[in-house]
Amino acid sequence: MTIVGAGAASGGAQLLPEVLAFSSSLALDKQLLREDLVGSLAHLIMLARSGIVPREAAEKIRAELVKIREQDLPVEEDVHMAVEAALSRKLDETAGMLHTARSRNDQIALDLRLHVREQCALALEQVAKLLRSLAERAGAEKDTLLPSFTHRQRAQPVSAAYFLCGYGAMFARDAEALRSVLQQCDVSPLGVGAIAGTSFPIDREMTRRLLRFSRVSVNGLDTVGDRDFALDFVYAAARALLHASRVAADVIDFSTAEFGYLRLDDEIATGSSMMPQKKNPDVFELIRGKSGRAVGNLTALFVTLKGLPGGYNRDLQEDRQPLLETGPLLRSVLEMLQLGLARLRFDAQRGLQALLSDYTQATDVAEALAMKGVPFRTAYKLTGQLVRRCQDARSPLTLEMARQVDPRFDEDVLRAADPRASVARKRSAGGAGRVDEQISFLEKESQRAGEAAAAVPRLHALFAELSEASL
Ligand code: ARG
Repeated sequence: MTIVGAGAASGGAQLLPEVLAFSSSLALDKQLLREDLVGSLAHLIMLARSGIVPREAAEKIRAELVKIREQDLPVEEDVHMAVEAALSRKLDETAGMLHTARSRNDQIALDLRLHVREQCALALEQVAKLLRSLAERAGAEKDTLLPSFTHRQRAQPVSAAYFLCGYGAMFARDAEALRSVLQQCDVSPLGVGAIAGTSFPIDREMTRRLLRFSRVSVNGLDTVGDRDFALDFVYAAARALLHASRVAADVIDFSTAEFGYLRLDDEIATGSSMMPQKKNPDVFELIRGKSGRAVGNLTALFVTLKGLPGGYNRDLQEDRQPLLETGPLLRSVLEMLQLGLARLRFDAQRGLQALLSDYTQATDVAEALAMKGVPFRTAYKLTGQLVRRCQDARSPLTLEMARQVDPRFDEDVLRAADPRASVARKRSAGGAGRVDEQISFLEKESQRAGEAAAAVPRLHALFAELSEASL
């Protein structure tokens, strides 16, 4: 029986157990088993079809390969060695044929690309769902008014729908970023071997096709050290989580007694172990907190890659933790955000009160006055004087007060101070009065994200296909 185990692949002595424990990535790599098997199946098919490995031997190897499960993996340096060791337990030295014209260097580059591609599909499905539910909710909250904020000071009246569309616009950009990551990983690294290629007459085009990549990588030295696609994915995820953290920050503030524009349903609100009256937004605080992990992962990956010499270096194995953590982290946050946002109730009364008590429609009044021919800066100053007078008198904006400031204020101008009118009048593109088209945009982007996800060749389908493909 061929022994692959723990260092014996090099033909040398067994590794010190301490060294094996220190250097093994198997604990994390196990998550790449499906990817590794799919890659091995494609490679094996190519070896057989190219006449490099006899068909009967390839049949035997494949029959065992497809049966390998996580629990079959012995303790080894990584998932690649563990799969080979598991195979050699079942087969004689035939098992060793699988590694012809392949290195773990191109193997891990492939596994990681397959992983990122799969994770992008899963993330895009989740973003599509989030965008759809934001669009739906926005449709239901067009008449719920509340202040928008600049410098965390009440700024101008908007609808809750406008807020939701604003959040959606961020996640639509994330869908776009994920689609571009898909393009970045759409390159087959398989066949460059350890770094310089192989003297076997392999067919890289065939494995590319079998694995549904669009291109093959152009230079082995670059290929085995390239983790740009991983960086792009971790960056796209970190940015999406950063977006989630900003939405969470609004929800946390808006659900306080101080703001009061939102209430959390009991299903998502947590209590305090001591204060019986508390209803806490822990879910949103965790969403905000977990974005830190995503940024940490991006930093970790950057630091791992910085200054590495050309070709493969074992440091690259440290890509595993930040990369493997990213997909599930991203999905869980997007899912919680979607569930959480669907379980918020807006308090329209509080929103309106906040608008009326703080002269947030002053800009509308100034604009309406300027539309009558008063230069905007003059209208701005006059409206400023009016607001200060009203504030001093603790009075709402009235025509009478306005006339005392300047006779050019009239009923027409004052009508712009109605919060509903204020929102409706913002008809400029991207404005608060144009949420209908913003909702359509989110619906469209949701559909696009869903389609991009559906177009990704998925691992389970490839596995099934390659398990049966002719050899
Ligand atoms: N476990 C390694 C990694 O994850 C696989 C490649 C190892 N290559 C090597 N020459 N030791 O990066």
